[in-house]
Amino acid sequence: MGGTGTLRLTRRQCGRNVLLAAVGAAVPAWIEAARSDGDEGQGVNGPDSLRAHAALRGLRYGAAVIPELLDVEGVAAGNTTDAYTQLVQGQANILVAENAMKWGALRPAAETFEFGQADRLMHFAALTGDAVRGHNLCWHEALPAWFKTTATKDNARKLLVDHIQTVAGRYRGQMHSWDVVNEAVNPKDGRADGLRNSPWLELVGPDYIEVAFQSAAAADPSAKLTYNEYDIELDTPEQIEKRGQVMLLLRRLKARGIPIHAVGVQSHLKADGPQPGAGLVDFVRQAAKMGLEVYVTEMDVNTHSLEGGPEAQDVAVARVYRDYLGMMLAEANVPVALTWGITSARSWLNESKQPWARRGDGSRQRPLPFDDELRATPAFFAIRNAVDGARAPAIPPGAAPVTDPSGLYKPFPVQGSPTTQPATAPAQPAVPPPPPFSTHPAIPAAPPAQPPPPSR
Ligand code: XIL
Repeated sequence: MGGTGTLRLTRRQCGRNVLLAAVGAAVPAWIEAARSDGDEGQGVNGPDSLRAHAALRGLRYGAAVIPELLDVEGVAAGNTTDAYTQLVQGQANILVAENAMKWGALRPAAETFEFGQADRLMHFAALTGDAVRGHNLCWHEALPAWFKTTATKDNARKLLVDHIQTVAGRYRGQMHSWDVVNEAVNPKDGRADGLRNSPWLELVGPDYIEVAFQSAAAADPSAKLTYNEYDIELDTPEQIEKRGQVMLLLRRLKARGIPIHAVGVQSHLKADGPQPGAGLVDFVRQAAKMGLEVYVTEMDVNTHSLEGGPEAQDVAVARVYRDYLGMMLAEANVPVALTWGITSARSWLNESKQPWARRGDGSRQRPLPFDDELRATPAFFAIRNAVDGARAPAIPPGAAPVTDPSGLYKPFPVQGSPTTQPATAPAQPAVPPPPPFSTHPAIPAAPPAQPPPPSR
């Protein structure tokens, strides 16, 4: 920190003082220690960023983003001054569209595709050299209004296959991974196979999952095809059962030779109550034995039922990040972690009016590594610490990516899309994309795997 008696503080020092004043004595020593690892004790940019720390370990850290908010033109011109854009560019090396690649966004009508915002994200990622996760190709939510009246048992299978061919095919060779099927398991629906009573199950039948993965493999052979699920993190009876059903589904898919390379653990966690532990670690290790990678796909930490002010929230949230990512990144088949958003200013938890998102005192949640003013929260330092302590990733043999020289993003026209005329093709990226993930240099000295923390 600046010397005593110095009245003029740098912006960074000023930010730190604000943070310290706000947090006061409540800051545990481990957060302080994590902070002081950085430049002047508080650097968060450049070599101190999450993306830089992750890259050093051969890992990826990333976030769900809102493509509309990205100043792609400014980045292309090399002169963006937009704070959100700079934050995403500076911190993440893998991105996912929070909503822009869902059916509801891509399919304004049954016969048409609208790729404007999805293309925007791909263009941004090509400029910045970031990897992209596609989210998602098949889900029971975010279906467009026309789906209910148009989709039938006769046409649903074709609708699904055509959608996947068009969407995954459009970004062929450009995707790190695709969430092919999202949230297909729901034991509460009472089926023996654990599957959710979704429109896809009802209209296509239980093999819709296989159809989706096979279509995705044909459309984009180089993307890691992922099954993504929520509420499988804890060792509560409900989540143990759901996690078990997910594992059975994964085994069925593998046994039938379905192309699947990874499982996404959404990781929408809560600051209070039971925390993930040995059951999830066991799941991750079973996945490794099956040749599957595991991605933390949507992490945030919900404080809707946590009492206390912003300081108490920050400490509790940071602790969950530390314990959870420390546990997950100790597993060699967990090479990627994304948060669901990057700043609380744009978190779905602050946008939702649902009781599971609203705080009793009406105050805003602080679930992410940056706060409403885009300042680093204690969670930022917790994530960075966990990344630093991570075990070097080792890709299980079955999840080895297809080595397809991934070209630069170039949209091609799709019938019915108003935004895919050749004239809208993005300019050539200013920086080349990074090598495929598998070619990151291995880190020689991997720290020993840490045992999962004792459950509280
Ligand atoms: C959420 C978005 O964050 C919201 O903006 C949207 O209104 C609803 O969907 N699991 C998922 C994500 O797989 O797609 C969800 O995203 C959050 C839960």
